[in-house]
Amino acid sequence: MEAAAGATPSQPPAPHPAVAPLAFLLGKWRGEGQGSFPTITPFRYGEELLFSHHPSKPVISYTQRTWKAVSGEPMHAESGYWRPRPDGSIEVVIAQSTGLSEVQVKQITRDFQVVDGELSYVVQMATNATSLQPHLKALLKKI
Ligand code: HEM
Repeated sequence: MEAAAGATPSQPPAPHPAVAPLAFLLGKWRGEGQGSFPTITPFRYGEELLFSHHPSKPVISYTQRTWKAVSGEPMHAESGYWRPRPDGSIEVVIAQSTGLSEVQVKQITRDFQVVDGELSYVVQMATNATSLQPHLKALLKKI
């Protein structure tokens, strides 16, 4: 027998209209990255991102955790909310596990892209001692 069009119980509910353009992000991503900065020793890390959403709210919940590639020991973690705005931009509010030390960062840029099902990003930062330059690069796949 044919299922009724559009409403089988196993289908995920449609996202909130404000979130629909970003629905490709929803789910869990896992991958690897590398970090550097003029003042630190370069390092490699594993990373997991989770973007989740309830259709009643125009917002995506975001959590991230990272670990040392060599030992699996936890590194930086953060969580927050991605809030699409009517003009097409996204307001991102994030609390980071490193707290106070990051208050001293003067400027941070995060560039994300999803191409052929792979999410990649570059994080750049400037500190009181160093001009804007890369700190992190990573490539993740949806799992
Ligand atoms: C946007 C997010 C992040 C910001 C704003 C940030 C900021 C910073 C800052 C300000 C420093 C100190 C740089 C200096 O001393 O000149 C630093 C160092 C460091 N960061 Fe990040 N970070 C971020 C994400 C991460 C992530 C995701 C990881 C790991 C996967 C990480 C790993 C490290 C490590 C290992 C150091 C060196 C620490 C040390 O030598 O004691 N950071 N970060």
